[in-house]
Amino acid sequence: MSKTKKSVIHEQLSSHHAAMKNIRLRDLFMHDPQRGKTYTQHFGGLYIDLSKNIISNETLPLLNKFAKVSGIEASIKAMFAGEKINNTEDRAVLHTALRSMPEQQLELDNKEIISQVHAELDKVQNFVTRIHSKNHRGWTNKPIDTFVNIGIGGSDLGPKMIVAALEEYRQGETRSFFISNIDYEAIDSVQKKIDPETTLFIIASKSFNTIETLTNAETLKTWMLASGCNDISKHFVAVSNNLEATGSFGIKPENVFTLWDWVGGRFSLWSAIGLPIALAIGYDNFKALLAGAHELDEHFSHAPLEKNIPVTLALIDYWYARFFDAPTHAFIPYDESLKLLPDYLSQLFMESNGKSTDINGHIVDYKTMPITWGSVGTNSQHSFFQLLHQGTHLVPIDFLAPLRKKGDQKHHALLLANCLAQSQALMQGESSTDPNRHIVGNKPSTTILYTELTPTILGSLIAMYEHRTFVQGLLWNINPFDQWGVELGKKLAVDIYDVLEGKKTGDNLDSSTQNLIDLYHNYHH
Ligand code: F6P
Repeated sequence: MSKTKKSVIHEQLSSHHAAMKNIRLRDLFMHDPQRGKTYTQHFGGLYIDLSKNIISNETLPLLNKFAKVSGIEASIKAMFAGEKINNTEDRAVLHTALRSMPEQQLELDNKEIISQVHAELDKVQNFVTRIHSKNHRGWTNKPIDTFVNIGIGGSDLGPKMIVAALEEYRQGETRSFFISNIDYEAIDSVQKKIDPETTLFIIASKSFNTIETLTNAETLKTWMLASGCNDISKHFVAVSNNLEATGSFGIKPENVFTLWDWVGGRFSLWSAIGLPIALAIGYDNFKALLAGAHELDEHFSHAPLEKNIPVTLALIDYWYARFFDAPTHAFIPYDESLKLLPDYLSQLFMESNGKSTDINGHIVDYKTMPITWGSVGTNSQHSFFQLLHQGTHLVPIDFLAPLRKKGDQKHHALLLANCLAQSQALMQGESSTDPNRHIVGNKPSTTILYTELTPTILGSLIAMYEHRTFVQGLLWNINPFDQWGVELGKKLAVDIYDVLEGKKTGDNLDSSTQNLIDLYHNYHH
């Protein structure tokens, strides 16, 4: 059987890897004094330095060839055009439409969707204006000053990360809270800090079928009623794709913001799921976030493969995962404002690409998404960095840091110095005759510097990660837009809950689960 172009290039990559695995990064830097500059890409306020990756001037051209024969360009076009690339759910993938310009047009199933998006954004703007201008008030006529988002996964992580990142842009004397966990402690700790008369609850759930969100919302509704609230409609709004369920919960249609089925949960912060963002930082700043993402969309949809930043990043991810067997990838923001970024990225990457079935329904015989994790620098230097420097795993890293940051500049310079020192130390290592002190080096990383964390730059940064996720999926030939793996656990939890509550017996349970249930029952007679 004749080999496909793709398998030929894959073999070339494999031979190239055999040569590259013994190359020393510090030698590459020694032989090419311009390497730092040559391998730095610039987009808007972002500088992406790829030079500390184990790549030579042969690697990216070969990877780009691989991208080309993998049909990446056509797949990018298909996504933007609204083709149903989420094949297992027969859905289009159009989070890019959420940050489109109003003059754009796009038809999906014979309906123009850009005008729908902008009508919904207008609704968000009107609502935010009514809250900020104190026209929308609580049941005792006090202005609303506290926003509590009740949601989980994509209906929590994105908005929570952005609100924390852009705290500096907060409008007025307001506060934001996010309740996601079913653990009552999550509700209790927020309830102690909020005033029911001045609080708005946003129930964020695309499906309106998620047990954590619905249970938490019911508990908080009961609390509001018990606190004397005689008009729930002033205190609860919803963001969902399920109008029937929001109606049954008691939310009036005018208080429901729409989310469409062509927006995946983990890609939804740009929709009305971003309402907590717009309430916290104001509608104009929310629009600036969308504009930053749109700029990156333009780059991603038009730049040639070899200059396309999300494509290049995904190709390098593929390089490490497929050829170097890198089991994990770490994200280390040297920016306290981005402390929630690693959590957000964990869902984005792992829920999208943690799959072992390819787009044609065949089980893959290669490794797909590495485990993604991380934490804020400099704190992580004093916890897990020992493993990164001297452990036995190869862990590619994304370092992120702002070039400018408000506040004491000595702190900022020290923050940046530490970020740069870590990637340098990981790359060059240090020789010692004492094996305990010997640091091999050659640990790859990408450094992403941004001029400062504005809404626009943050929008571009997050869109860059979204598109990197998509291209990774294309390279692994999997669908990044479904998440069937999470369903089984949800279903079993409902059954086990009934057994814990004594509503049914746990027939056919494995002895571990049965024993753990018995232990619970021993403490709950
Ligand atoms: O548990 C998986 C998941 O379906 C995520 O994909 C999603 O972001 C989250 O649950 C919340 O879903 P929903 O917005 O429908 O409540």
